[in-house]
Amino acid sequence: MAVWLAGCTADISKQKEAQKDTANLQVHTAPDTADIPHNEFGEMVRYGRELIINTPYYIGPDGSVSKNLNNKMSCNNCHLDAGTRPFGLNFFSTHGRYPQYRGRENRILTLEERINNCIERPHNGVGLPLGSKELVAMACYIKWISAGVPAGERVYGDGAVEVDYPADQANVENGERIYALHCSECHGAEGQGVWKPDSTGYVYPPLWGDHSYAAGSSMNRVLKAARFIKANMPHLKSTWERPLLSDQDAIDVAAFINDDRIHPRPQKRNVTNYPVAKYKPIDYDRGPFMDTFSEQQHKFGPYQPIIDYHRENGIPVIF
Ligand code: HEC
Ligand code: HEC
Repeated sequence: MAVWLAGCTADISKQKEAQKDTANLQVHTAPDTADIPHNEFGEMVRYGRELIINTPYYIGPDGSVSKNLNNKMSCNNCHLDAGTRPFGLNFFSTHGRYPQYRGRENRILTLEERINNCIERPHNGVGLPLGSKELVAMACYIKWISAGVPAGERVYGDGAVEVDYPADQANVENGERIYALHCSECHGAEGQGVWKPDSTGYVYPPLWGDHSYAAGSSMNRVLKAARFIKANMPHLKSTWERPLLSDQDAIDVAAFINDDRIHPRPQKRNVTNYPVAKYKPIDYDRGPFMDTFSEQQHKFGPYQPIIDYHRENGIPVIF
């Protein structure tokens, strides 16, 4: 196992440099599910994995256990292969990095609270009670995945790939073209996705509209989405080793999907995202900001001038 980047630094330039120097690194892999222990802990790990793959069946709007989600997406739609795919928003090193300060809430969150974050934003729902069997089961599974990863450290293959930032702002029209060429066959012309035959979830999850992830989700940020898309979409044609889209095309299509002027999505009421301006990610688009750039530029770029301004003025560069 290659230990890659210590700590939970938020400075993207350091992450980018670390990822460029990876020629000799072995990508990390998750443990084999056949090795999940046959004891009480193992039972919870299995249930947690099941919840992450078939989330709405258990806790969706028609859930058999509870109705915490407000859409029928699965964790697995974004945390690919149940959170075990390299550069597919996996959980390789997640367990050992919590509790952790989170700018979106401006406080320290435990792993369970971080899971609830995804239930509240991408799933547009209400968090599970702390200590509930379902929340504990998902935490057990996430712990099991990170077996052998030193607490607080990152491994090569974590999270998502990096992208280079174009000199100009993201080109939404090019994004529309890329979408029609490479995405709409599965996600639909209206970004609505395709249901499973029994409507318990999606074969192809939605990318915008009432049933998709809510505003304020990480996937709603252009750079974050582009990093996921580059290594993993179009599904089965792109891999992190052989991405099909260029960085520019990944950013443009992420901008097209997340352009709320043309593609509305659920808005969370009564929640404040990133109450402290200093800790806003550079591609988060709601002011006030510590810098002088517009909401439009935070959303669509060009990002480099924002990054440079933050560095020059001692403002954290957060992604
Ligand atoms: C629409 C996509 C989407 C869905 C659905 C989703 N997540 Fe996430 N999740 C993300 C993104 C994006 C991040 C941020 C990853 C990053 O910052 O690198 C994230 C982060 C997390 C983290 C923190 C990871 C870390 O290493 O810090 C956890 C834990 C998590 N999600 C759990 C879940 C669980 C459990 C579910 C289902 C109940 C879920 N997520 C559903 C997109 C999603
Ligand atoms: C062959 C079908 C297919 C194509 C083509 C495809 N996707 Fe996907 N996409 C999927 C599937 C399947 C998932 C969920 C993965 C899972 O559940 O295992 C997904 C998940 C996603 C997600 C995260 C979940 C969500 O709904 O927000 C995003 C974002 C996404 N795709 C964007 C794209 C973009 C952009 C393109 C074009 C560049 C694209 N996809 C092309 C099948 C496809």
